[in-house]
Amino acid sequence: MEKIISLCKRRGFVYQGSEIYGGLAGTWDYGPLGVELKNNVKQLWWRMFVQERDDMCGLDAAILMNPKAWEASGHVSGFSDPLVECKKCKRRFRADQVGEKCPECGGSFGEVRQFNMMFKTQIGATEDAESVSYLRPETAGGIFVNFKNVVDSFHPKLPFGIAQIGKAFRNEIAPRDFVFRSREFEQMEIEYFVRPGNWEEAFEDWRNEVHRWLAAVGIDASKTTELEVADGDRAHYSKRTIDFEFEFPFGHKELYGLAYRTDFDLSAHAGASGADLSFLDDSVEGGGKRFVPHVIEPSFGVDRTILAILASVYTEDELGGETRTYLKFNKAVAPIKAAVFPLLKNKPELVAKAREVYSMLKKQVPQIMWDDNGNIGKRYRRQDEIGTPSCITIDFDTLGENPELLDTVTVRDRDTGEQRRVAIVDLVSIIS
Ligand code: GLY
Repeated sequence: MEKIISLCKRRGFVYQGSEIYGGLAGTWDYGPLGVELKNNVKQLWWRMFVQERDDMCGLDAAILMNPKAWEASGHVSGFSDPLVECKKCKRRFRADQVGEKCPECGGSFGEVRQFNMMFKTQIGATEDAESVSYLRPETAGGIFVNFKNVVDSFHPKLPFGIAQIGKAFRNEIAPRDFVFRSREFEQMEIEYFVRPGNWEEAFEDWRNEVHRWLAAVGIDASKTTELEVADGDRAHYSKRTIDFEFEFPFGHKELYGLAYRTDFDLSAHAGASGADLSFLDDSVEGGGKRFVPHVIEPSFGVDRTILAILASVYTEDELGGETRTYLKFNKAVAPIKAAVFPLLKNKPELVAKAREVYSMLKKQVPQIMWDDNGNIGKRYRRQDEIGTPSCITIDFDTLGENPELLDTVTVRDRDTGEQRRVAIVDLVSIIS
């Protein structure tokens, strides 16, 4: 884990939040390569689960919501973790993560109490009970309160889903394990609305979709397992949950969740808001009946996805007699798709041709990097370490020193280290 964290910082994937002020626990900042990786993950997810399907639509709801929504959803009363405080040093811990005594000073703990994990904030200039609001603890809330809007605008047929990607916030008692458990994080969530009798079939379909996603994004399938969450361990809204766990360097932990939320949320919001959140089933099978749809929820953490990808692709091997570290990203998520080098930095004709190739490629595949620093071997190592699949070198043959090789370049493969000679006109299809 230390090696991954150190590479992330050194190469601009993830930095500690507010680092120059000593940091802010539970926050992380994505650097130039991290944000490319994260955007690639989100775009792939959106494409796979929204754009490529006919039964899904997207949403981008506000983070701040009317607090009544969080009362209705059960989060104000029930979204909490057990907290204990050391009687001696006053440090606080999650009761389920410590033993009998304080791990810092050996003191004994007071009573376990429930600590609500929602971040409270004030809306507007007055500070009273009426102005309290919360940063959303899950993106799902914004989807449920927009159910009626989407139905009224688009008249979808059941089953259909609404997807959203966005930030969520939880005041974790003990943020830990790099970006795994942080206080500000990003989710990719789907609420998939079904007829009550069809929930099991939809649950199985989404279970398969989660596996398809794991393969598409490049998470090592041999490190993932499913856990059927027992009664009593599930969230208050769920009648069935499967956790997709990943073998992180710090242990087997939840990566994604798949929950059957029944009609809990729509019914609760209908009751609290007075809005009619039922669905008119005008299909032949439905016979014009109104009912509240049930919901299957696949929930994906963006940051946990990034960490599981990094843990899957981090590789150390030996190449050409030297040890090296490289990230075996698949092309879809690699933050940089290719790097372009002039063989020698002090030959203007090589640099000019390399710049021409670089500019031409960058217009079509924007995630391209230029590098003319140090020798070629060092450039390869630098690109390997950030997971760039292809390195393109412009040499004297590109300029026609050997006329048969005019306008060809070498393309070096990250994983094998092998090079092949290809025509410049074929580069876009090779790297995209
Ligand atoms: N919406 C499920 C979760 O945030 O865990």
